[in-house]
Amino acid sequence: MNLFDTHAHLMDSAYDEDKEEALKEAAELKLVINIGCDVPSSREALALAEQFPNFYAAVGIHPEEALKYSDEALKAIAELAKHQKNKAIGEVGLDYHWDVPKEVQKVAFEKQIALAKELKLPLIIHNREAHRDTLDILKACGAEEVGGVFHAYSGSAEMLDEVLVMNFYIGLGGVVTFKNAKKTVEVAKKVPLDRLLIETDCPYMTPVPYRGKRNHPKYVYHAAEKLAEIRETTTEEIINQTYENGRRLFKID
Ligand code: NI
Repeated sequence: MNLFDTHAHLMDSAYDEDKEEALKEAAELKLVINIGCDVPSSREALALAEQFPNFYAAVGIHPEEALKYSDEALKAIAELAKHQKNKAIGEVGLDYHWDVPKEVQKVAFEKQIALAKELKLPLIIHNREAHRDTLDILKACGAEEVGGVFHAYSGSAEMLDEVLVMNFYIGLGGVVTFKNAKKTVEVAKKVPLDRLLIETDCPYMTPVPYRGKRNHPKYVYHAAEKLAEIRETTTEEIINQTYENGRRLFKID
């Protein structure tokens, strides 16, 4: 099975107790990208990628961690980004759910978009309750040059056009399996098949039937299964197509 979890956080302390087992099971997937949220977790994502051939990494400073942003932190991310198993800058973006000052988040976001362009790497976007500002900044910074993915896409089906035209893919995961996921189901119907990615965002966002438990890359299958049901196709087609899409976007041979 060509399962590709495009968004995992196996560095998270949620795996401390049984890390070896969790990593071993994740290594059974075809591909996994572990996503950094600050300098230390970005470094750890790369360490995991060195340990397992089918693991890759993304490095960046998450909007919730934007207070950790500094010129020095950016320099460290830029160095890590040159690692041959790093495939993207992320996750970066805006999160207005928590009270990290918007101006601080915007500076960190803009500088990391510039870094992605400089290194010709795609962006992994985290956008929570900040649709308009996220789109405006991506546009103003010319992010369409590198594109990337809106991870755990939470915008409307109408907003898709604006995202797609800037060369971004749509990452969908656990939410699509939730009972109240009306908006996400609409999105899942409308995304062009060649722009769809699947992800877990583990240890968070656990899909049904494991909702409430710790998430793991192996559960990405349940997102694929639900997407197949919504799009009236086979789970196998979703798995194979999202695998090809992910390899195309992240340039993985
Ligand atoms: Ni994440």
